[in-house]
Amino acid sequence: MPDRTYKIAVIPGDGTGPEVIREGVKVLEKAAGKFNFKYEETYYDLGGERFLQTKEVLPESVIKELKSQDAIYLGAIGDPRVKPGILEKGILLKLRFELDQYINLRPVILYDRRFCPLKDKTEEAVDFVVVRENTEGLYCGAGGFSRKNTQSEVAIQESINTYKGVERCVRFAFEYAKKRNKKKKLTLCGKTNVLTFAFDLWERTFYKVAKDYPEIQADYAHVDATCMWMVKSPEWFDVIVTDNMFGDIITDLGAIIQGGMGIAAGGNLNPQGVSMFEPIGGSAPKYTGKNVINPLAAICALGMLLDSLGETEAAFAVENAVKKVVKDKLKTLAAGKMGYSTTEVGDLVAAEIGS
Ligand code: IPM
Ligand code: MN
Repeated sequence: MPDRTYKIAVIPGDGTGPEVIREGVKVLEKAAGKFNFKYEETYYDLGGERFLQTKEVLPESVIKELKSQDAIYLGAIGDPRVKPGILEKGILLKLRFELDQYINLRPVILYDRRFCPLKDKTEEAVDFVVVRENTEGLYCGAGGFSRKNTQSEVAIQESINTYKGVERCVRFAFEYAKKRNKKKKLTLCGKTNVLTFAFDLWERTFYKVAKDYPEIQADYAHVDATCMWMVKSPEWFDVIVTDNMFGDIITDLGAIIQGGMGIAAGGNLNPQGVSMFEPIGGSAPKYTGKNVINPLAAICALGMLLDSLGETEAAFAVENAVKKVVKDKLKTLAAGKMGYSTTEVGDLVAAEIGS
């Protein structure tokens, strides 16, 4: 029997992060009881509050500890009291980079057609996964200013794309499309007509790796067209692979066609190391402390976390419980309009899992 005790680091973070993570942990406890696994949780108070009080963003010692965990469960990072970028780059991006979480896996699943803003689209139509490269591109922080604050100012922000980084991401996406076994189609989302260096590397690598996956249809769409098709014919997509920046943008669009930020989850994956799971909606300062935010995105992220640990039955149960609560109970998926409080939605999902 494998040891089914997992070390889980919990970073509630900023804004509504702690409120949604609390519900996720409630569901975790329930799932552990039902499916007979154990976990040891370690909480980390990273975020705006700690930064304001101590000037510490992400101590090296914490990174070291996180590397020894089985998974990380993250709420949200971002605090309006702190200059934009400090916490996002210093905590979230730093963790993605330091832990080499080179895949950002973002499923776009519509649980209930009532919540799709697209006309006449059903649950079958909105069911795809975005594989976003997570450690390179415009996110590397390469570039700089010259003659800052003068009329001659120049600001340069470079997109770094390495063969190794692109290859491992594309290969993961092909492998994922194969395991997913649905439409067996992988679409590279790029901009080969303008970004003729970066996406030339992506395109060449994509079709090279495609040769190892003859059963998967390899397709290509420019990023602007991808946005159009996501709205017009989302049913065309199965798995989309793209770079860091485009992946960031198209997954917000993806979130809204699946019903909103309240339900969108993602995993920052290092398939050989420690992965981190999070709701993708951010810290939502205006709803903080009101017990109105939708915790389902965080609960879905927990489902993905359980899946990554090999607790597939538990992961499946969480996903089904969410689906059921969405279908049978919620009035909308939006904060404050669900017909239930944050805590109540967590209770409903936990009850659905049963004991
Ligand atoms: C996301 C977020 C982050 C990103 C921000 C907060 C740095 O928007 O996870 O999509 O751009 O990756
Ligand atoms: Mn984003």
